[in-house]
Amino acid sequence: MGILLCAGLIASAQGNLQIRPLANEQNIVLVKEAKKYLLLPVQDNAPEGKVYIIVNNQHQGVAANVRLAREKVDYYVPLDLSEYEGQDISIDVQGMPESSLCWKKISLSDTFDTTNREKFRPVYHHTPSYGWMNDPNGMFYKDGVWHLYFQHNPYGSTWGNMTWGHSTTTDLVNWKFEGDAILPDAWGSIFSGSAVVDYGNTAGFGEGAVIAFYTSAKSTPWGDTQTQSMAYSTDNGKTFTKYEHNPVVTSVKRDFRDPKVVWYAPGKHWVMVLAGGQEMEFYSSKNLKDWKYESSFGAKQGAHGGVWECPDLIELPVEGTKEKKWVLICNINPGGPFGGNAAQYFVGTFDGKKFVNESPTQTKWMDWGKDHYATVTFNNAPAGRCVALGWMSNWQYQAVLPTMQFRGSNTIARDLTLYRQDGELLLRCAPSAEIEQAREGKTVIPSFKVSDSYELPSLIDGNEGAYEIDMTIKNAGASRIAFNLENGKGEKVKMYYDVMRKQFVMDRSESGKVDFSTDFPAVTVAPTPETDNIRLRLFVDRSSIEAFGEEGKFVMTNQIFPSEPYNKMSFVSVRGNFTVKSMTVYRINY
Ligand code: FRU
Repeated sequence: MGILLCAGLIASAQGNLQIRPLANEQNIVLVKEAKKYLLLPVQDNAPEGKVYIIVNNQHQGVAANVRLAREKVDYYVPLDLSEYEGQDISIDVQGMPESSLCWKKISLSDTFDTTNREKFRPVYHHTPSYGWMNDPNGMFYKDGVWHLYFQHNPYGSTWGNMTWGHSTTTDLVNWKFEGDAILPDAWGSIFSGSAVVDYGNTAGFGEGAVIAFYTSAKSTPWGDTQTQSMAYSTDNGKTFTKYEHNPVVTSVKRDFRDPKVVWYAPGKHWVMVLAGGQEMEFYSSKNLKDWKYESSFGAKQGAHGGVWECPDLIELPVEGTKEKKWVLICNINPGGPFGGNAAQYFVGTFDGKKFVNESPTQTKWMDWGKDHYATVTFNNAPAGRCVALGWMSNWQYQAVLPTMQFRGSNTIARDLTLYRQDGELLLRCAPSAEIEQAREGKTVIPSFKVSDSYELPSLIDGNEGAYEIDMTIKNAGASRIAFNLENGKGEKVKMYYDVMRKQFVMDRSESGKVDFSTDFPAVTVAPTPETDNIRLRLFVDRSSIEAFGEEGKFVMTNQIFPSEPYNKMSFVSVRGNFTVKSMTVYRINY
């Protein structure tokens, strides 16, 4: 074996790989008898190089941008060679010096090990098995399975090579990675979008075909373009075929993306909502291929501190009535209430063409934490439910989070409804009931009164940092109801109800590792309708806390990176007293 080169020009050779250096940081990797994967060593902070597979003198697909290791290996990513197994092929690598460490560490393998090596990897929240993740995409439910696609970088834990990764679950808690479903092509990389189940075969790809809509985002020397493309699947979302006449919607706008497609039953047509700059644009179609512009929404409405992204349009029941209203979800970055990204929403009417906001003077936020973005809902959810998932992070610091093998997680699933408060229609985002079936073991803490301070030295046995605390509190004149989640290292998340201001507050500035970004230490504040008879559920999962007040009348989602799990809780009352009437700590282990 071995490929003979003239006069000993082989820089290095290992097994079936030979590296042939060229001028200007270009290298050829000659692969003899390809295995399933070429394992690429990555250094998280190295500059990107370009990696192409060459077969018969032709590049196969588009380049993978990879931060190949120069001085140290942080982790490995797999380049899929399964199509070429057993063949001799070449890899064209551009932009990597000959002296780089990667040339010694690169190898062929039949397996890729995704065993978790990270202590901050959540247990019951969805994360990518490896690589970077941002927005949830293309979510739909069909035949008992919830499908989640996501903005995935399969070649590193920083943003790039945008691809739709795919995971599934039957219980909204236990997720299975199904591989990458939609890969970059000539129109660009694959940005966010949605998927529908075409039961009526309106597009002609078959009854029940799953049809995905995504933004093709392309960078050229003349600038960046964004267009909308589609792909269909006849195997329930496992594999997709791209529509041959992509793109289906184009524009001269630079920011023009994240198509959400929904069925408008009264008009028997489809609607596409798109983010275009600081507006949402509405299109209609009968066949999912030909789209007609109908209207735009956004001027003088809500928050405009950043670009509008990732829209969703849903019709929701108003609790306690027979009424239904339309909700337009509008993610925004930056411009969130605590810096960076957030999700705002509008409540109003929609006639199939135009959305009208019924309370234009108010900005409404779906979640009051720093780590809740790109939130959209599953199409076709069962029993008339409307189930949402968000990306549990913030563009301010996602790239420097203290994880390596993966970066990015999703919120737990939330069921959305509308309720009326002081004449205003507001979103309730309640934890989806499925999470209760994931509880394993619990500690019931007997009722106690807090007149000054009170300490719970141990929350739950075998604490691995993945649990839910469900508590009810009766206030008796306290002006502040405060509690900290703490660990033995003195790291804590401070929380309190400010009774006068009717607010729930969370402070993560001493929560553990916070120094990786000056935007990370933060105090977040939510309005709460209730300070007398409180119900609060705290979902803690190694590196996050989601606080749900009054079953989702407010939600606050924040990441935390404690050096060990919080296992202590201390309570403080200011002025009067309060009683923790019930408190149960459920372990959630998956
Ligand atoms: C939102 C977003 C989307 C875009 C995607 C790219 O987080 O900027 O607008 O489609 O991420 O990864």
